[in-house]
Amino acid sequence: MSLLDDVKSRLDIVEVVSGYTSLTQAGRNLKARCPFHSERTPSFVVFPERGSWRCFGACAEGGDAIRFVMKAENQNFAEALRTLADRLGIQAPSRRAQEAMNPLLRANEEVAKFYHKHLVDSEEGADARAYLEKRGVSTETASAFGLGLSPTGWEDMKNHLAGQGFTDAQMLQAGLLHRSEEGRTRDLFHGRLMFPIKDDGGHIVGFGGRELDGGQPKYLNTPQSPLFDKSTILWGMDVASEGIRLKDEAVIVEGYMDALMAHQHGFTNVVASMGTALTNQQVEHLTRLAKSYVLALDADAAGQEATLRSLKSSWKGVDNVRIALLPIGKDPDDLIRQAPDRWPDVIASAESKIDFFFRLLPPRYDLTTTEGQRTLTEELGPLVLDVQDSTEQDRHLERLGELLGVNRHTLEEVLQRQRQSVLRAATAKGQRQRGPDEPPKVQVAAAAFKQDQLEAYSLALLLRDPELKEVAEALQPEFFHESENREVYLKWAECSIIEELRELMDTPLREHLETLVDREFPSMDQKERTEALAHCVRRLEERHLREVRTQIATALSQAIEEGDDPSQVIEELRKQDERLREIHSTRVRRGF
Ligand code: UTP
Ligand code: MN
Repeated sequence: MSLLDDVKSRLDIVEVVSGYTSLTQAGRNLKARCPFHSERTPSFVVFPERGSWRCFGACAEGGDAIRFVMKAENQNFAEALRTLADRLGIQAPSRRAQEAMNPLLRANEEVAKFYHKHLVDSEEGADARAYLEKRGVSTETASAFGLGLSPTGWEDMKNHLAGQGFTDAQMLQAGLLHRSEEGRTRDLFHGRLMFPIKDDGGHIVGFGGRELDGGQPKYLNTPQSPLFDKSTILWGMDVASEGIRLKDEAVIVEGYMDALMAHQHGFTNVVASMGTALTNQQVEHLTRLAKSYVLALDADAAGQEATLRSLKSSWKGVDNVRIALLPIGKDPDDLIRQAPDRWPDVIASAESKIDFFFRLLPPRYDLTTTEGQRTLTEELGPLVLDVQDSTEQDRHLERLGELLGVNRHTLEEVLQRQRQSVLRAATAKGQRQRGPDEPPKVQVAAAAFKQDQLEAYSLALLLRDPELKEVAEALQPEFFHESENREVYLKWAECSIIEELRELMDTPLREHLETLVDREFPSMDQKERTEALAHCVRRLEERHLREVRTQIATALSQAIEEGDDPSQVIEELRKQDERLREIHSTRVRRGF
């Protein structure tokens, strides 16, 4: 059973809510003063049979127990789930995953020891030892990071592990073997300098192997698997997190070698991104450890371009990220080895994200033309508006105005108009996409699904077919009553490419996503899928409105019974009824 299912099966909404506000019985339900805003008369109701809550007052919002904790603790879905799991005494997901992975982790530990011994002890290791010495890596550092050498033979590692009782299947699962087309298996890594890759808990989840003889690729890494997910790991975090917390600053370099050399010279707040742009998940992890961040990345043109993209996406909304300027052609590794004293200055003089934008972007346009001015405004304007600190934002608005030769007031008007036209374009697109109101010809498969399957089914459809995005315009997050579905929907609305969507999610949500993605479907063509989803969206909306209506009716009879002023509730009821009538008439017209 997944952690999510486990938690949900044991959740008691009354117990959860009563930890935050005192509930009093009101018929079959319970009421309270809303814990999310201050009020004198209670407008917050818990419905034990439905496992839900709703505030009829200022919040006008409701949901399940997970949603309640998310709101009350200001946590995201994964955090709220963990909070609830802890309270219920259910093991945390990382421990649980680790236990399931245990043999694979043990295999990795064993292999790391084997590689390390081969590096320090064997005759074959002499060249690799000389290589490390040439690059200035001390034997202490090599040991501290558990560096190793994979033998040049085809099956040395495999034989070694087999001797320890590990099976081929386990080695394959851990990504340690390569399987040929004929089905034969052999060691993945040969004659490479091995860098163990650890998760935050210090468990070895994979390896990066550097060639020593000009072979390709330069680094071969363990393939992506449930055990090894590169997008969630920062290399060296197991030893760096302490330093990052102490300094309240994290330095992000690209390569294993860079991070290794930094630590060897006592710069302990350094982690490596392993050559790719940081994912949201990695950024989020860093923001939990420290308040400021410095990127010490490749300074060549391609590197700057990649940094620019990453600053606009994963680092969006984070002000305190700075970019260190390294001498062209120099890695942090070179710099630290040759002049360790200069490193602190390089980090201290790193330029702010917004300065980086102002340095890179304006030279790309001819600002003597209106066209050049317009495109720069379009590019740089939103980035300035993204500066969170308002005095800072102000300063950079001035600066952009000066560059463009327009006064502050005009610039703000332009940006405002720009923002509105982006919004208008989006709305117009939405209207066009919704298309003519024609009734569907086939009775869709969706009708056969049970009510409680409706949310999952709709999401599975959406995930299956990106073309359905238009139909989904009519969906609202609150139509999803199960928090995990609501969250998947929200993330999907942000980004509908499955691979990227996975990166946006923490483990419990990603697991839920996989069950949705793996769902079996009756075969349908594009048109049938569109109709199926349109049908689902209506059913979801109708179900939501009915649910809310029932809740309102309950609250109303309660208010009357207790002699409270029912006008607020009555107004809610009237709005809901109007909307329900609308939906009904469309359904009759459409014939379903
Ligand atoms: P670099 O090429 O900068 O490597 O790639 P490096 O760590 O500085 O190594 P040296 O100094 O040449 O020995 C940066 C990182 O990108 C990833 C690795 O994590 C590497 O450390 N990478 C690079 C790969 O995964 N595969 C590759 O083929 C190359
Ligand atoms: Mn390097």
